[in-house]
Amino acid sequence: MGFIKNQLISHQLLSKMAVNEKHGENSPYFDGWKAYDRDPFHPTNNPQGVIQMGLAENQLCFDKVAEWIRKNPKASICTPEGVSQFRDIANFQDYHGLPHFRIGVAKLMSKVRGGRVKFDADRIVMSGGATGANELLMFCLADPGDAFLIPTPYYAAYDRDLCWRTGVQIIPVHCDSSNNFMITRAALEAAYKKAQEDNINVKGLLITNPSNPLGTTLDRDTLESLVSFINEKNIHLVCDEIYAATVFNTPAFVSVSEIIQDMEFCNKDLIHIVYSLSKDMGFPGFRVGIVYSYNDSVVNCGRKMSSFGLVSSQTQHMLAAMLSDDEFVDKFLEESSRRLRKRHGDFTEGLEKMGITCLPSNAGLFCWMNLRSLMKEKTFEEEMMLWRVIVNEVKLNVSPGSSFNCVEAGWYRVCFANMDDETVEIALRRIEAFVGKETEKKVVKLRRQGFSNLRISFSTLRFDETSTHTHTHIMSPHSPIPHSPLVKAT
Ligand SMILES: Cc1ncc(COP(=O)(O)O)c(C=O)c1O
Repeated sequence: MGFIKNQLISHQLLSKMAVNEKHGENSPYFDGWKAYDRDPFHPTNNPQGVIQMGLAENQLCFDKVAEWIRKNPKASICTPEGVSQFRDIANFQDYHGLPHFRIGVAKLMSKVRGGRVKFDADRIVMSGGATGANELLMFCLADPGDAFLIPTPYYAAYDRDLCWRTGVQIIPVHCDSSNNFMITRAALEAAYKKAQEDNINVKGLLITNPSNPLGTTLDRDTLESLVSFINEKNIHLVCDEIYAATVFNTPAFVSVSEIIQDMEFCNKDLIHIVYSLSKDMGFPGFRVGIVYSYNDSVVNCGRKMSSFGLVSSQTQHMLAAMLSDDEFVDKFLEESSRRLRKRHGDFTEGLEKMGITCLPSNAGLFCWMNLRSLMKEKTFEEEMMLWRVIVNEVKLNVSPGSSFNCVEAGWYRVCFANMDDETVEIALRRIEAFVGKETEKKVVKLRRQGFSNLRISFSTLRFDETSTHTHTHIMSPHSPIPHSPLVKAT
């Protein structure tokens, strides 16, 4: 009784923002992380544990980074070679950022786009990761209650990043597998019209290119059509391009920056790019996020707002040296793309041998796995049921499509770049064993019904409720992640 009373009092003491649920930590996307956190896989200490395949991290090229750090002790202010810089760097607190850092980031952004566009270092605004960059843009572009259109499926944490503290709302633009989840002008127009009828002020369109969770890139025609759309409506276009350098196969990446450079008519004041080093370089812990806006007022206001989420000057200093090393950056980008191509190929081919297909993709740190053929009813209830089996029995933390606001049930995002080759092998073997077990059950069931000489493949197998674990753990929808869900697989 006393506890409940205390709870009520503490709720009154906190702000509405502090107690609302808009952070989204109660979604299955984060529940999977909690399952991993309770029982993390380790090859020797916990070989039966949950393998983390829900975290889009790029861990394939750390050896290259470590090699560079060893060769460049002066880049750190904590080495005998670099300590003479300690005082200046520790004192530096200008929210414009270190000029060399901004020049390095501008150069990297250009390299990642094949040198086809140049970026102005004076337009680089820092923030705490792309998370901070996306929120900062919302604060600059929209008022509480205003909306952004976002094609689905979209990054699960956008609800937190774009809406929680800003009061902005997301209007989903539904895309489906009938055209490989491509964004169409018709779907955009329909979502825009519906928002107008509902008296919602649409301030912009946000796209993720390359897409998380699809791992696909937008083609030139689609990008041109999106730029025309936002120009006609006089609304903003925010392009989250944080996976730009994860493109590992053709077609090559096309950035909105190239499109607006070549287009005859475009109001550049409406165009803003979000970038970060979390995926392309594999440094999510450094919290380096970038807003690159073509709008002077947004650059000025964004820079003032960046006081709330600056990148530490120590990090800026180290990265300024790394990113201005052309030879290193060129080789790193090439090697990273090569390793991602190989990993993607190995993983998706392994799945194909079991009859599991993924949406064809050319980018990203994940694939979009199709398990629709396993479902009797294509419902989100069944999607969640199957997901619980995958997490609790197969012991793989993958993310269900519903957490990305996908309109079709039965898709799952599976990350493959946050672990070593051996862990990928183990994950594939677990899936194979699960498929085999389910096939066996199906054969026995059908034999009992009088069928014989059956050949059943995974793709014809349907998931049914009897296969769910009876002690499926029900996660508390309110429990926060106790600590960072780091992958300790190596
Ligand atoms: C599309 C997208 N945007 C933004 C983020 C956040 O990135 P950061 O770690 O730089 O904050 C992520 C992270 O997964 C993402 O996938």
